Formats: sequence, C-alpha cells, structure tokens
Amino acid sequence: MTIEEGIIYGKKYISSIDAKMLISKATGYDTLEIINYLHQELSPKEEELYKNLISARKNNKPIQYITNNVNFYGIDLYVDENVLIPRFETEELVENTIEKLKKIKNPKVLDLCCGSGAIGIAIKTKIDSNVVMSDISKNAIEVAKKNCEKYNLDISVIESDLFQNIDDKFDCIISNPPYIKENEEIEDIVKNNEPAIALYAGKNGLDFYERILKDIRNYLNDKFLIALEIGATEKDDIIEIINKYFDNVIIESKKDLSNRDRMIFITNNN
Ligand SMILES: C[S@@+](CC[C@H](N)C(=O)[O-])C[C@H]1O[C@@H](n2cnc3c(N)ncnc32)[C@H](O)[C@@H]1O
Repeated sequence: MTIEEGIIYGKKYISSIDAKMLISKATGYDTLEIINYLHQELSPKEEELYKNLISARKNNKPIQYITNNVNFYGIDLYVDENVLIPRFETEELVENTIEKLKKIKNPKVLDLCCGSGAIGIAIKTKIDSNVVMSDISKNAIEVAKKNCEKYNLDISVIESDLFQNIDDKFDCIISNPPYIKENEEIEDIVKNNEPAIALYAGKNGLDFYERILKDIRNYLNDKFLIALEIGATEKDDIIEIINKYFDNVIIESKKDLSNRDRMIFITNNN
C-alpha cells in the first residue's frame, strides 16, 4: 500500500484530515510533508500500525491521544490519556492572563492543576516569567515534565494536592481546575477517554473553586492576580465564593468567543 492508497483506505472510516495525521504518525513524516511522499510504499510494520491507529480513531479515541500531540497556543505539546486535552477556551484564558501579566516585571506564576502543562508552558514561552506548575496526578506530572523538557524550559513541576506541597508566594495563580458537576451530561468521547480526575468536581462542580479560594491568599504576594477558567453556568456561584473569602478585590468575568462566561480574574488594589 502506498501512502496515497493508505489515505484513500483511511477515508472510508475516518475523516481525511485524521487519515493524513495517522499516516504521518505511522510513517514518521510531518503532516505538512506527507504530500511529497504519496507514492512511497508503507512497510508491512507501518501498514499494520496505520490500520491499528485507524481502528482506534474509528472507535472514537480522540485523535490527540492517538497522535500524542495537541497544538496549544501555537505550541505542540505531548498528550496522552493521563491528561486532559487542552481546550481552545483555555487558550483564551491564557491570552487574557498574558495581557495582564505584561504589566508586571518577571512575574512569578503558579499554574495550579497543570495537567499537560499547557497553561504554564504557554505563559513561560510568551513572557519573561518564573513559572511553577503543580498537579495531584503523578502521571500528569510526568507529561508536564516531558513537555518542559521538549522545549528546554526551566519550570518546576510539583506533585501536590492543590496547595499541600506549595511553599512559595506568587504574583499570579492561574488554574483550570476540574469543574464538571457529578451528574452532568458530557460528550461520550470526553467521558470515555479523558481522565475523570481532570473533569469532576462534586455535586455542583464547585468543589475546587471552594478549596482553592479558601486557601489561595496564603500563596499570593501583596499585589496579585488570580485567573480561573470556569464552567459556563458557574459564574454567579463562584463570585459568591470569592466574596466569602475576599474583601476589597476587583472581580472581572469574561466571556469566551462563543459568548459564554468562562473566565474570572481577581485582582487587588495594593
Ligand atoms: C481540567 S484539567 C486541566 C489541565 C490543564 N491545566 C489544562 O488546562 O489543560 C484539571 C487538572 O486538575 C488536576 N487535579 C485534580 N484534582 C487535583 C487536586 N486535588 N490537586 C491538584 N490537581 C488536581 C487533574 O489531574 C487535571 O490535570
């Protein structure tokens, strides 16, 4: 089977974009270069691997877990089943946070609940900053470290149940914590493939905001920025939690490009 025949074969089962990505994965050619090798024969091993990848995709495994790659904020990151696949909305959280951080010289930033490290790595690569990332999952920590090594980034990655092993103070704490309600209907492809520990946050989806906001002040410098991704229906409840633990702060909520409330920023006047 040539690469061209392979793509035609793949298109019977999955989208042509996915077929191209999977044949790239099986042959080791870059997706952008594959067009130059259409008449090349696959080795028996490559063909077998390609067919196995197609069958995984056909069974609804996310393409990012099959190719072990996702592009986040212009950066190619390694991902596997141990981490959430970073989402477009989170790029918007990063974008807005970077704009705010530009006003601080060499900010010290904690990416709490870092998963693959997408947020912390995006910040570190875009602005001069001192970044620490943490997550409770040993396997996610491995992935985050692998991504830091890929780009030779000097970021400490700490295994920690929220703030348990954090003993520093930061100018900014940014987090995309789990926020799905216990019984919330979510897409099968998410439910069946992404780690439950990255998704669920108790009956109301608010457990992590409550835990984070209760303790976060101890880990912030006098002047601070907190940046949180939130579930689209959670804004009012989270503002209530913020008001329970903070006086005298500025709370700014922002909508994503789909016009849903997906980010909250908290700053103080100091
Ligand atoms: C929604 S995912 C976000 C991952 C990544 N920040 C992103 O935006 O793609 C939430 C992350 O929180 C981590 N997590 C769950 N419970 C935690 C806890 N108690 N302490 C720290 N991290 C936790 C999960 O392992 C998962 O990586």
